[in-house]
Amino acid sequence: MTHKVRKAVFPVAGLGTRLLPATKTMPKEMLTIVDRPLIQYAVDEAREAGIEQLVFVTGRGKASLVDYFDMAYELERTMGEKGKALDPLASSRAGYGELVTVRQQQPLGLGHAVWCAREVIGEEPFAVLLPDDLMVGKPGALKQMVDAYARLGGNIVCAEEVAAEATASYGIVDPGATEGNATEVKGLVEKPDPASAPSRLAVIGRYILQPQVMEELSAHETGAGGEIQLTDAMARLIGRQSFHAVKVDATRYDCGSKAGFVLANCALGLADPDIAPLLRERLG
Ligand code: UTP
Repeated sequence: MTHKVRKAVFPVAGLGTRLLPATKTMPKEMLTIVDRPLIQYAVDEAREAGIEQLVFVTGRGKASLVDYFDMAYELERTMGEKGKALDPLASSRAGYGELVTVRQQQPLGLGHAVWCAREVIGEEPFAVLLPDDLMVGKPGALKQMVDAYARLGGNIVCAEEVAAEATASYGIVDPGATEGNATEVKGLVEKPDPASAPSRLAVIGRYILQPQVMEELSAHETGAGGEIQLTDAMARLIGRQSFHAVKVDATRYDCGSKAGFVLANCALGLADPDIAPLLRERLG
C-alpha cells in the first residue's frame, strides 16, 4: 500500500508546560521564530511535501492557531489602501478545504491526539508533524520522508542519533539492517533509560503512518508517563507492516524547550540577510 500521502496531522493540543509562563495563554506552536510562528514552518514543510489537507488537533485555548490561517480581511484591505505589499501574508492563508480541525478534549498524550483525527484520515496513509520540532532543510524534512516512502512504503519515522544520556526523552529504535538513509525498525521503546536503550537512534517529530495505527490507538492503553503513547501503537505494527527509521538531511531545533527555542531564533536570524549583520555585531 504505497499510495500518495495527502493528509497531515498536526497535534497542537499539548500544554507546553516547559515554556511557561509564555504558553499560559498562547499556544506554544504560535511562538515566533524570527518573523513567523512555529506552526507556519510546519505547514510550509507539509505543503512542500505535497500534503493537500492539514488536520489540526486542537484543544482549549488554541483558537489562535486556526484563526492565524484565516484571511485577515480588515488587515489586507487597510494594507491595500496604504499600498503595502500583501506577500508576507500569502502563506498564512489556508486554501478552501485545506484546513480541518478536530478537538482533543483532554491532553491524554500524543497517541490520543493522533487518534482524535481518525475520522478525517479514514483509510489512507498520513503524515504527522510535531510543530515544536522545527526542521530546517532543503528540501524539507517531510519531502525527504515522502521520497523515502515512495521507495519503501509502509511506516516511516524520522530519526536521529542522540547522546546516550538523552534516550529517556525519546522513543528509541531497536535497529535492523540499514540501507542508505533508512534503517529497518525491529522494535520501538518509549523513553528507555540509557542502560536499557536498544540504540541511540531516536524518533523525532515527523512520521508517515498507515491507517491501521488508528486501530491500535483505539485501545487507549497508557504507557510511559501515564500518557497514550504513539510509540506503543506504532510498535504493535512492527512485523505486520514494513517499518523504517529514516535520517533526513536537516537540522532539528527542539522548540518545545527553552534552549532549543532560543537557538532556533539565533540560527534562523543569522540566516536572514536583513537582520544577520546586526545580530553578528551584537551577539559577537
Ligand atoms: P510534547 O510532550 O512535546 O508537548 O508533545 P507538551 O505536552 O505540550 O509539552 P510540555 O512537555 O508540557 O512542555 C509533542 C506534541 O504533541 C502534542 C503537543 O502539542 C506537541 O505538538 N500533544 C501532546 C497533543 O496534541 N496532545 C497531547 O495530549 C499531548
